[in-house]
Amino acid sequence: MSVYTTPSGEISVASLHRMKRDGRPIAAMTAYDASFGRLLDDAGMDIVLVGDSLGMVIQGQDTTLPVTIDDMIYHARAVRRGVRRALLMVDMPFMSFATPEDALANAGRLMKEAGAQMVKLEGGAAQVATVRRLNECGIPVCAHLGLKPQSVHKIGGYRIQGRDEASAQAMLEDALALEAAGADVVLLECVPQGLAREIGSNLGVPVIGIGSGPDCDGQILVLHDAIGVTPRPPRFARDFLAATGGIAEAMESYVEAVRERRFPGVEQTIE
Ligand code: KIV
Repeated sequence: MSVYTTPSGEISVASLHRMKRDGRPIAAMTAYDASFGRLLDDAGMDIVLVGDSLGMVIQGQDTTLPVTIDDMIYHARAVRRGVRRALLMVDMPFMSFATPEDALANAGRLMKEAGAQMVKLEGGAAQVATVRRLNECGIPVCAHLGLKPQSVHKIGGYRIQGRDEASAQAMLEDALALEAAGADVVLLECVPQGLAREIGSNLGVPVIGIGSGPDCDGQILVLHDAIGVTPRPPRFARDFLAATGGIAEAMESYVEAVRERRFPGVEQTIE
């Protein structure tokens, strides 16, 4: 048992908020099945995310757009069976939260049928009403800002977001509005280090980064990028398996590197 877990030894939303207050980095990783769920849990991961990245890394699709709510439930139920300690976060796939009513129905399914403890949805100020509605119903939410892969066709590729002053200011305002609406965690994907730092220092809730520099309150990676499976991994990833030679050791080494702020290093950071 630790000060960061519930009496039954689990990571809760309150645990994540305490980690932010104490400056203890949060370690998170994606998983799509029970075996990796257990492995990540045993390595001491604080959050296991069933990401809609499963569309690309598991199903072999070109984007995350074809992923359905039933796909998410199938994989989340499997991961649920492997995870005991970590908080289980599950992505809301493309078009499953187009209205607050759709979001409520689909988030409810993720919680009831798959055992999700938090849902994640992509979007800025446009999602404020949805986040407020989920919050009113007791559903913890992570708001995903920065690069939003479900909007790939709108933004024209997987690019760094928030580079110019206007878009950086808009992202900060979105994050504040989502926090005020009840978001429990904010995730920033591919955001310059300085902007990620600014958003983190203005929010009371934890900011988890992916490709957003070392100053976030926590880090997350797609599992396949962290164990050398992705053919052309993003620049912000590191192959932890190459350095350790075993998957369990690789996951432990990732958790340790995040906790000691050795990951991401300069070579994985976007200025
Ligand atoms: O779907 C996913 O794996 C994600 C990560 C990029 C954080 O959202």
